[in-house]
Amino acid sequence: MRLEFLENGPIRLEGKRFRIRMGEREEVLERPRVFLCRCGGSVNKPFCDGTHKRIGFQAPGGVLEVED
Ligand code: FES
Repeated sequence: MRLEFLENGPIRLEGKRFRIRMGEREEVLERPRVFLCRCGGSVNKPFCDGTHKRIGFQAPGGVLEVED
């Protein structure tokens, strides 16, 4: 698994199929990537809704790789 922390923005997670569970909400998304909020400002958590640009979120970019 590879997480990419976009500079001043969300976390990009690549895959094929994502199962999201938050509280009572469960959703399966079939898409090549999702963008997860790390600024805390999204009204559509856990997904980024672009709010990070409006609030001037700043954080360095980076990568986290999980090795087997
Ligand atoms: S990182 Fe984009 S809305 Fe939070």
